[in-house]
Amino acid sequence: MSIIKVRDREFEPYLTAEEINGQIQRLAAEINHDYAGKRPLFIAILNGSFMFASDLFKAINIEAEICFIKLASYKGTKSTGQVVTAIGLDTDIHERHVIILEDIVDTGKTLKEFLPQLNHQQPASLELAVLLHKPEATEYPVHIRYLGFSIPNKFVLGYGLDFDGLGRNIPEIYHLKGE
Ligand code: XMP
Ligand code: MG
Repeated sequence: MSIIKVRDREFEPYLTAEEINGQIQRLAAEINHDYAGKRPLFIAILNGSFMFASDLFKAINIEAEICFIKLASYKGTKSTGQVVTAIGLDTDIHERHVIILEDIVDTGKTLKEFLPQLNHQQPASLELAVLLHKPEATEYPVHIRYLGFSIPNKFVLGYGLDFDGLGRNIPEIYHLKGE
């Protein structure tokens, strides 16, 4: 891995595909253990979490369902603070064991606004599985039951995460150089 340029910015290597996969396998093993016999419903938040959701779900070996919603609060490299629901939930979560799949928790605003909407529908349980968390940036604390990596407060891209639409296809994770 070496420095890459996306639009006008330089990004440096941060997490390898092997490191990412290692954490995902660990999270999946924990979920397989904790949810055996509970037929959990995974809700993946698009766009950023599509690769994380795909790789994690492949490693789930118990009965489980998955569905997708689309929320967005980011423009360029900064959170706008405005959370928009672009594609809503089409599945009944009442009395279901729900696990939210999210690529990254930054300020925490997206989940802080979204979780009460889900709790309102009275799921049997509601937990978060998150690949990346920036503790230094978090203004709205959320409890992350299954966390891949705690990372510094730098903009990241790759493995589903984008910079202005680009970079999602990169199999590794990079962060903004010199931030
Ligand atoms: P909040 O601030 O609501 O942000 O926790 C969560 C959403 O913002 C996006 N996000 C990022 N996307 N690199 C990205 O490509 C980043 O460093 C980054 N930080 C936050 C992401 O979509 C997440 O769901
Ligand atoms: Mg996202």
